[in-house]
Amino acid sequence: MGLGDTKRIAVIPGDGIGKEVTPAAVKVLQVVCAAGGKKLAFTSFDWGADRFLRDGTSLPADAPEMFHRDFDAILFGALGDPRVPSNQHAADILLGLRFKLDLYVNARPCVLFDKRLTPLRDREEKDINFIVFRENTEGAYAGVGGNFKLGTPDEVAVQEDVNTRKGVERIIRYAFEYARRKKLKRVCMSDKSNAMTFGHGLWQRVWAEVRKEYGEIEARHLYVDTLMMEMVRDPSQFEVIVTCNLFGDIASDLGAQLSGGLGLAPSGNIHPGKVSLFEPVHGSAPNIAGKNMANPFGSVLAAAMMLEYLGWAAEAQAMNAAVRSATREGKTTPDLGGRLGTTESSDWLAERISKHGVAGAGA
Ligand code: NAD
Ligand code: IPM
Ligand code: MN
Repeated sequence: MGLGDTKRIAVIPGDGIGKEVTPAAVKVLQVVCAAGGKKLAFTSFDWGADRFLRDGTSLPADAPEMFHRDFDAILFGALGDPRVPSNQHAADILLGLRFKLDLYVNARPCVLFDKRLTPLRDREEKDINFIVFRENTEGAYAGVGGNFKLGTPDEVAVQEDVNTRKGVERIIRYAFEYARRKKLKRVCMSDKSNAMTFGHGLWQRVWAEVRKEYGEIEARHLYVDTLMMEMVRDPSQFEVIVTCNLFGDIASDLGAQLSGGLGLAPSGNIHPGKVSLFEPVHGSAPNIAGKNMANPFGSVLAAAMMLEYLGWAAEAQAMNAAVRSATREGKTTPDLGGRLGTTESSDWLAERISKHGVAGAGA
């Protein structure tokens, strides 16, 4: 992997609040790694709307190979800018990296740190603690389709939903393996096989096969409309949810809101054993960009997921603990009810980590 015990991190802040929350997360990473005696080497990439509008660069052709060769992980902000209404650069860069690095697992934990933060009545921290595994390389995002008679009254738009046996099997298997590793009891697969009989019929058949190998885990299926309802009615019934790309996008925003909102939600785009990409679930939030208002905690928690992926569990734990304390003590941005800015709330995390250190540091 890295140079000696240094891990090499590519940083892509992107657009809007990505440019604010990513440096905040890097600052916290620097402090936690110094406290734990670990070394990170950061290299920044200026890909995003400014660069795209200036010289047409989105994802350079050699980027996937470069990331495989020169980096251990990627820390990503967000992409999306009103000046690029087609969202072309975001599709090229973000979906491009997910597909070209074959990051087939999109892991999106939904954990309630403080019961004050959930919009659900009478729910506590123990009730909301699950993870969504979103298939991340195919489905409705495959980009297969086209327009016919574009712009005329007879216009036709086709957007195919692509499901492969390999793609479906590896994400379902990953969800079960994760449950087994973490000693969790329940995996719920969600699809729409009653309506999408071809594509999601495949999900059903693969699910029926793979679940047999994990007899100790309760394997449940819910249609996605029912899943949405059940997540709101009683989120405590879920531990691991596995679903397709599009439904996972939707389920993870709902899960984020149940556990405090988009500002707090992290994700990992993972290919086990290979260079992987970590990012907050939220977008570039043009409505609050440049105002030092964006919550950096989603990005900080994504950076913690990155450290855990790199094998530095104690440092990851220290970052999670700092965010948990900040939410409980109200040292947050306004979206979580606090009065701090992006910079001040991440400084608070950094100071807390400096003060408390990292358990087992130097071991
Ligand atoms: P968004 O996530 O950017 O914002 C949704 C709402 O949540 C807004 O009100 C925003 O102010 C708020 N919000 C989001 N992150 C926050 C944070 N960290 N702190 C406080 N409030 C926060 O979604 P959107 O408005 O639908 O999309 C805006 C742009 O971002 C679009 O171009 C979209 O395509 C893009 N987008 C990118 C990603 C990504 O890069 N992974 C993800 C989602 C959306
Ligand atoms: C996300 C985002 C992206 C997605 C967009 C920006 C294409 O919403 O990461 O959840 O739909 O995957
Ligand atoms: Mn999304």
